[in-house]
Amino acid sequence: MSHDLLIHGGDVVSSSGVERADVWIEGGRVRSVGADLQVPAEVPRLDATNKWVFPGLMDPQVHFREPGGEAKEDLASGSEAALAGGVTAYCEMPNTNPATATPELFADKLERARGRSRADYAFFLGATEENADLIGEWETLPGCSGIKVFMGASTGSLLIPDDPTLERVLRSGKRRVTVHSEDDPRLKERYADLMERYPDGAPVGLHHQVRDIESAVRSTKRLLDLAEKTGRRIHLLHVSTAEELDIVRERDLGDLVTVEATPNHLFLAAPECYEEHGTWAQMNPPVREARHRDALREALLDGTVTCIGSDHAPHMAEEKARPFPKSPSGIPGVQTTIALLLTAVRDGWLRREDMVRLQVEGPARVYGILDRGPLVPGSVGTAVVVDPSRTETLAAEWLLSRSPCNPFIGRPLAGLPTEVVLRGQVVLRDGVRVGDPAGQPLEFEETVRP
Ligand code: DOR
Repeated sequence: MSHDLLIHGGDVVSSSGVERADVWIEGGRVRSVGADLQVPAEVPRLDATNKWVFPGLMDPQVHFREPGGEAKEDLASGSEAALAGGVTAYCEMPNTNPATATPELFADKLERARGRSRADYAFFLGATEENADLIGEWETLPGCSGIKVFMGASTGSLLIPDDPTLERVLRSGKRRVTVHSEDDPRLKERYADLMERYPDGAPVGLHHQVRDIESAVRSTKRLLDLAEKTGRRIHLLHVSTAEELDIVRERDLGDLVTVEATPNHLFLAAPECYEEHGTWAQMNPPVREARHRDALREALLDGTVTCIGSDHAPHMAEEKARPFPKSPSGIPGVQTTIALLLTAVRDGWLRREDMVRLQVEGPARVYGILDRGPLVPGSVGTAVVVDPSRTETLAAEWLLSRSPCNPFIGRPLAGLPTEVVLRGQVVLRDGVRVGDPAGQPLEFEETVRP
């Protein structure tokens, strides 16, 4: 496969602007960018006329279920869905079965990805009560995106139940710790109460009332207190409330705190999402009323939100059909994030430049990912080409996740990724994957090489 390519005649997008230019990639790295480049005739060409050319967009939060949940997804199917959606790299969560909570299980995941992942990859280590003091020694392993903490129980067994244990995790290691912030003691009380009131199943429309605003706020306040006390940088995953965004702004802790938003919280709102999609709109933390969605959109633009992750969390339709709250939480989304954001660009509330900030520079900053940034001479030759003229209704048949439960099916989406280039190699052409899986592990600032 060639790692030389000329991406010709497209609108090249960076976080600071858009420029009509050719991108010449040689040996997998950008050699030059400019108008009408003179390139040897033997260099393969990708015609990007009337298209947009983004640097490699990334998804820093996915759950691909391998090992232990391959009926829902594995690294091959998940990365195929990622690629078809224009995602060039992902960071995968540790709540598999068994959970990725030891160096051995971490090495096993990396081994499983080798030669099977169609996009570049990295994996999180899951914090547990048992590994709380040791995990900091493992976070610098090659291919590791960092430590993940569940403060509230969700899918899987990972949980850090109290502040003393959380403080131990925060004092173990140095990299930014990424956190699912919901207050577990409060959740337990509220589920017990729900089960008493609805022993045979409750309306899913209660999901955001059970896992309520206070559950998120209480946990985030505890976390910010501990981040300040220990000086450890933290990343708030999938923030769901306007209140938490205000707290982050008010506490103004600078680089100590970064924030992620998901497309689910940006493009769905309660109660309609539960009325229309039932448990297919059920995720943790929950999608809430429109005022939270609007606050998140505002926070995308004012810089409070640092990055966008899909929180791709596939479950089977049969499982989702169980009566709430026995229905599992999670929405598949790795394939639809970029198309949804392009629709926001079409609708005028997001700019193409913001996508680069939130899906390239944001994840790179949060996790210390090396070599991902604007398409400039010397940078990695990884790119996503988008056809802005294509408006399509999202069809179930297009989706490649093993979970069919995507609540965005049926939405008109504007602009679809058509080509993906990994290190000069065209791996998606006209929406169809090309060649063998070519994903490589991401590299990080703080990795210690053996
Ligand atoms: O809804 C969710 N599903 N939230 C999470 O934090 C985990 C995820 C999953 O793995 O299913």
